[in-house]
Amino acid sequence: MKFDAPAGANPIDKLRVVGRPTDRIDGPRKTTGTAPYAYERHDVVPNQAYGYVVGAGIAKGRLTRLDVSAAKSAPGVLAVVSTLDMDRLPLSKMNTASLFGGAEIQHYHQAIALVVAETFEQARGAAFLLHPEYQATPGRFDLQAHEDAPLVGGSSGEGSGGPKLDRVGDFDMAFAQASVKLDQRYTTPDESHAMMEPHATIAAWDGDRLTIWTSNQMIAWNKRDLAKTLGMSPDKLRVDSPFIGGGFGGKLFVRADSVLAALGARAAGRPVKVALTRPLIFNNTTHRPATMQRIRLGAGRDGRLVAIAHESLSGDLPDGKPETAVAQTKLLYAGANRLISMRLATLDLPEGNAMRAPGEAPGLMALEMAMDEMAEALDMDPVRFRILNDTQTDPEKPGRPFSQRQLVECLRTGAARFGWDRRKPRPGTVRDGRWLVGMGVSAGFRNNLLQPSGARVRLDKRGTVTVETDMTDIGTGSYTIIAQTAAEMMGVELDQVVVRLGDSDFPASAGSGGQWGANNSTSGVYAACVKLRDAVARAGGLDPDRAEFSGGRVAAGGRSIRLADAALHGDLVGDDRIEYGSLAKQYQQSTFAAHFVEAAVDGFTGEVRLRRMLAVCAAGRILNPKTARSQVIGAMTMGAGGALMEELAVDKRRGFFVNHDLAGYEVPVHADIPHQDVVFLPEADPVSSPMKAKGVGELGLCGVAAAIANAVYNATGVRVRDYPVTLDKHL
Ligand code: MOS
Repeated sequence: MKFDAPAGANPIDKLRVVGRPTDRIDGPRKTTGTAPYAYERHDVVPNQAYGYVVGAGIAKGRLTRLDVSAAKSAPGVLAVVSTLDMDRLPLSKMNTASLFGGAEIQHYHQAIALVVAETFEQARGAAFLLHPEYQATPGRFDLQAHEDAPLVGGSSGEGSGGPKLDRVGDFDMAFAQASVKLDQRYTTPDESHAMMEPHATIAAWDGDRLTIWTSNQMIAWNKRDLAKTLGMSPDKLRVDSPFIGGGFGGKLFVRADSVLAALGARAAGRPVKVALTRPLIFNNTTHRPATMQRIRLGAGRDGRLVAIAHESLSGDLPDGKPETAVAQTKLLYAGANRLISMRLATLDLPEGNAMRAPGEAPGLMALEMAMDEMAEALDMDPVRFRILNDTQTDPEKPGRPFSQRQLVECLRTGAARFGWDRRKPRPGTVRDGRWLVGMGVSAGFRNNLLQPSGARVRLDKRGTVTVETDMTDIGTGSYTIIAQTAAEMMGVELDQVVVRLGDSDFPASAGSGGQWGANNSTSGVYAACVKLRDAVARAGGLDPDRAEFSGGRVAAGGRSIRLADAALHGDLVGDDRIEYGSLAKQYQQSTFAAHFVEAAVDGFTGEVRLRRMLAVCAAGRILNPKTARSQVIGAMTMGAGGALMEELAVDKRRGFFVNHDLAGYEVPVHADIPHQDVVFLPEADPVSSPMKAKGVGELGLCGVAAAIANAVYNATGVRVRDYPVTLDKHL
């Protein structure tokens, strides 16, 4: 189905099942431990052996020696795969760093060996007998030493072009002449996804055919890329990932667990399971790169922005990509004169890549603090300042409208609900015993991305509707909203729908990334259901154009039959995918939010306690308010981590992230999080898809950290521009 005109009324609009706060249909399996994660899939193939990955102990240089003989003869050991056994394996386009093969070490904890044994303990024990020797060479590990790094393109999120400065109007002139100005620098640290389930894979060969049971957000990418890395045909590879214990972008791409499980299984001649140990994940896989951002804002005395500049520096391995922290600044506020740029330093730290809301998450940490500072300089309320500078068209392409944009409504609704009028503009003036109390606000912004997505829907003679798609559920609720979509389209109850996900034998979907999963995957199911409805009506001898589906029946022209009867003589199948036409060019599609936070800071110790959090989101039709709310409160929690605790500490001499475990890399726990209030503004975007939905999973994070930092400033009067806002910085 090609989607190239705004959606009219369609069966989803009945909102009989879609749009309801339905419990997760996979909830009982999750809570009873019967939804297995990759490493727990003991039943999929017999005779599984254990692989233990060894990571390099240097950040840059060469592995000069790896003596596998002692390990090979250790108890229980079945095989040792050494990176010196083979040339560097081909990179897929999604990987920047080598995953395995060859002597060159590009980053700390790059995989250099896999030991396969009968038990995990035997594999781990033998791994300590390898005694790797290295020739280390100097590396570049300090982003701050590379402020003159070259300009790069890609700030529009459309892939990198050449070096690029985005200019609109004359920023320098307008900024020089502006009555009120701000010129500040902000930093955000390297961060780790720190999802609960580690990267894990079981691999089994059957002749030249390989099956991997793994934990990955993007099945079709994974299949294509792993086949390339292993030098095999994708037709001979099956990837299965039905349940995923979190990803946050860390599982978008093939990682060493899959590659090494496959190599280990080939070497040992039997199935091998590999999990990256927690200490390995932080340096072996990807992370969100640190940024250094400079923001300049110029406004008239009336508070209208006339000049906006946002320049960001980040680093990555050679041939890597920038963190697109300037992305939202191109679209969020009006202002005739604009300058946007990104610089990319070459660093020899582990690979930087997507982590939840890449670009906007760290970008808004800076921009929305700058907006708070600018409002103060203007002596203007920060909510009012943002509303005043709203734009209803793309500021870089005048005349190009947003499909929908309710930022102002988000701010107004939130301010009223939060009691923003009780905020004292002068910082450091509200006390509650030993606590200093403040309120902060931030705008939230994240683009709505469109991806083709396929599904196959089957009706059988019991009246059961089975949906199959390689879409993944990373804890987000995909199973449930897909079931709701099929139930709505086919006019059946939710318990008549079976959803099967995450298997590369199913039609390729959008996958889970970039908050595009919900809208695109359900649109693919919608398209397949349109086909199935047609097949059902025809099978029942009814006019497909007039067929109505409800109560497990289809009716047209005064005649009605049970769906089960339509499939009496064989299953009926609808197989299709959603594809997007030119609408995406005509309209800017984005999602908007306003975040409000009340924070208390201990006047003696500087300890921060969040007291209240509110998110108001405008993100198209909300397919399931319960699972959407779960996404947003999870994102708000992640925002609290980003604001107050998360930081990978870089050892700038040896080039690695020091705090590579969950003891040293701090994320929020329940005790850190107050009640979180989430409001979804009513919206249905006819331009986004037939579902009229958008994404919320990343929007919920975008702006949260700045709202917290702004609340802390309002409480204390101390402005901390280097995240995370830890107590040592404001004492
Ligand atoms: Mo997201 S960072 O595309 O999982």
